[in-house]
Amino acid sequence: MEQDRGQFSSRLGFILAAAGSAVGLGNLVAFPVMASKNGGAAFLIIYLLFVAFICYPVMLAEIAMGRRTQRNPVGAFSMLSDRSKVWRLTGMLGIVTPFMIAVFYTVITVWLVVYLKQLATGNLDTLSSDATFSNLVQEPSLFGYASLLLAAVFLILVGGVKGGIERLARVLMPTLAVMLVVLVCFVLTLDNASAGIAYYLVPDFSKMDLGVVNGALSQAFFSLSLGMGILITYGSYFSRTDSIPSSARMVATMDTSIAFFAGLLILPAIFAFDPNTNTDDLSTSSVGLIFSFLPKIFLSMQAAVGYFGASVVALIFFLLVFFAALTSLVSIIEIPISYWIDEWKMTRKRAVLTQAFLLALFAIPATLSFGLSEFFTNFTNYGGLSKSFFDVVYDVFYETILPLVGFTACIFCVYRWKLNGLNEELSVGDPRYNGSLMQRYLNVSLGTVVPVVLFSVFVSTVYTIFI
Ligand code: PFF
Repeated sequence: MEQDRGQFSSRLGFILAAAGSAVGLGNLVAFPVMASKNGGAAFLIIYLLFVAFICYPVMLAEIAMGRRTQRNPVGAFSMLSDRSKVWRLTGMLGIVTPFMIAVFYTVITVWLVVYLKQLATGNLDTLSSDATFSNLVQEPSLFGYASLLLAAVFLILVGGVKGGIERLARVLMPTLAVMLVVLVCFVLTLDNASAGIAYYLVPDFSKMDLGVVNGALSQAFFSLSLGMGILITYGSYFSRTDSIPSSARMVATMDTSIAFFAGLLILPAIFAFDPNTNTDDLSTSSVGLIFSFLPKIFLSMQAAVGYFGASVVALIFFLLVFFAALTSLVSIIEIPISYWIDEWKMTRKRAVLTQAFLLALFAIPATLSFGLSEFFTNFTNYGGLSKSFFDVVYDVFYETILPLVGFTACIFCVYRWKLNGLNEELSVGDPRYNGSLMQRYLNVSLGTVVPVVLFSVFVSTVYTIFI
């Protein structure tokens, strides 16, 4: 029997849910630091060009594949290729990748929950000490927090597309935007904030090299949640009366604006803490920055607003990051769930339970990867380094494979589904699409420059990380 797959209630519902997925740790921390290290506004310009000319066409292709087939990534590749086994297998990448990303994202979100609890109980000073984070990741109590978090996530997902995912995004996304604006306004009043703004916004083209350009594209790609099967699946819940191109434009604009505003928050805060900050010394790792460095910065604000005030600011910031992580986590776990529903004909409840079990199975070794278990902590070696189970999942699925999945989607749309099919789908709900400049650009780029760029990024990342 065909299951009821669900649908977003409106165009706005889709936009908020997709933006909820896109806005995550990447926007709030990795982007600002990357931008300031790599030439400020010069990086920003390259990033924007990539969003517009490389990522946006992939967004359209992914959403169109989902809406045409009303299926998860495996089903979408399979249906549009007349059930070709090879393409079905390629679609599997669009299920396995989000599945594995959910594993390490769960671990990071659990750490956020612990930080929120510490902040709510007045322990900002403890969080600012160097030992706290390394001790925290080895606490067996993490499993308790993980169970609570996953229970909440799966409860949201049982609520379905409209009653769960969309409802969450409708509440959290506007809240997140307000919190971000409030924090930016506050931080801009601090001494030396202007030094941070200058560092962020004055272009320095001398920092540009191939590595920076590569990094800008990878960042844009994962910031928009591309190559994770998410937009294929969300496209399958998108109404046929609404325009894909204009909705995707809104999502990309929201995602990029939030990343930009996060820069106006993080950098002035860092420079207020130490006016002589050398941004080259900042870690681009979101994890190191959020959990080890930022608590120190918030604590230093007590000179201006007292300990209580600094704790409130820190709490608002961590809540903001938690909301962003939660909406991303929910979106990514939905992908394998849609696979169970479509391909295995499970009810949503059963699919959610199956996925909860599988996720827990992998999240346990990932949680044990930070010292709790020697085996998972020193799991393997490559690139001259010892790697934990968590590192392997992170390196393979987050750092490396996304551009490859994007590449396969482009090749598939152009050479298997064919541009006629794609154009036809993109003009459903958008009569102005046919004949537009956008259509002409998409038709030329999707089989040429876009896959070539994505494949180059994939190869260069494999080389950097594994060789
Ligand atoms: N777009 C997200 C970000 O910028 O952080 C990427 C993401 C990560 C989405 C993990 C979903 C997810 F589960």
